[in-house]
Amino acid sequence: MKPRVTCLMLSSLDGRLGSGLAGDGAKEEISARGRAFEAAHDELSPDAWIIGRVTGAEMSRATAHPPAAFAAPPRPHHFATRDAGAYGIILDPSGKLHFAKPDIGGDHVVVLLGAGVADSHLAELAADGVSYLVSGGDEIDLASALEVLARELKLDHVAVEGGGGVNGAFLKAGLVDEVIVLIWPSINAITGERTIFEAGEEGLAARLKLDLRSCEAKDGVVWLRYGVSMRG
Ligand SMILES: NC(=O)c1ccc[n+]([C@@H]2O[C@H](COP(=O)([O-])OP(=O)(O)OC[C@H]3O[C@@H](n4cnc5c(N)ncnc54)[C@H](OP(=O)(O)O)[C@@H]3O)[C@@H](O)[C@H]2O)c1
Repeated sequence: MKPRVTCLMLSSLDGRLGSGLAGDGAKEEISARGRAFEAAHDELSPDAWIIGRVTGAEMSRATAHPPAAFAAPPRPHHFATRDAGAYGIILDPSGKLHFAKPDIGGDHVVVLLGAGVADSHLAELAADGVSYLVSGGDEIDLASALEVLARELKLDHVAVEGGGGVNGAFLKAGLVDEVIVLIWPSINAITGERTIFEAGEEGLAARLKLDLRSCEAKDGVVWLRYGVSMRG
């Protein structure tokens, strides 16, 4: 069964991710945004969070270290643990990410991979104590991946936490029940910086219906909470 899915994002007034902020002057701004986001995440307290490969690369900077010899690793999945307090799920279709330890901030790492990933990469993940799920087709089937993870890891509530393309893909697939956007008091206005929702040429306005559930201000950050349903 599909778990409840909340998409949680922090945005500037102009809907940007914050990925374009750079330089020494931005350091305090970036960490203040990070603290606000983490506080919201902790308040939400999901069983698992899901992010994309680019965001994942900011959290794990290890390089490739496949074992010299290995038995054929299991497909489609390997779960190193099934009783973690929380799980960090990363969409890494081509297996570009490597890990020095099996957790990020204490949350057990589960990597979602495409069918073309090499056995040596799966063996590396398993040797590092990292869990993985390989999708059956060329593209990761988000609905079925979510169902398998919820069943195998007993997930009731999952937070999709960016970046914009990942959020867009989950919304487009009709998998998101609720969106929470934290409006950070900043106008980024960096030309070309990605937004918190990206869903290609068609976008999402014609597909989704949002119902405002609450709007409150906490420490200068506006929390917007919407229920999400598919149109038609
Ligand atoms: N403001 C916030 O609340 C917030 C939250 C999270 C992250 N961020 C920031 O956002 C930035 C990164 O965002 P981003 O949009 O550039 O990248 P991202 O979403 O972190 O990662 C994108 C990558 O994830 C993989 N991916 C995405 N959708 C997929 C799908 N449907 N199926 C399979 N794989 C998929 C692809 O990997 P491949 O390229 O390997 O195919 C894609 O290039 C970072 O700077 C991060 O700090 C901000």
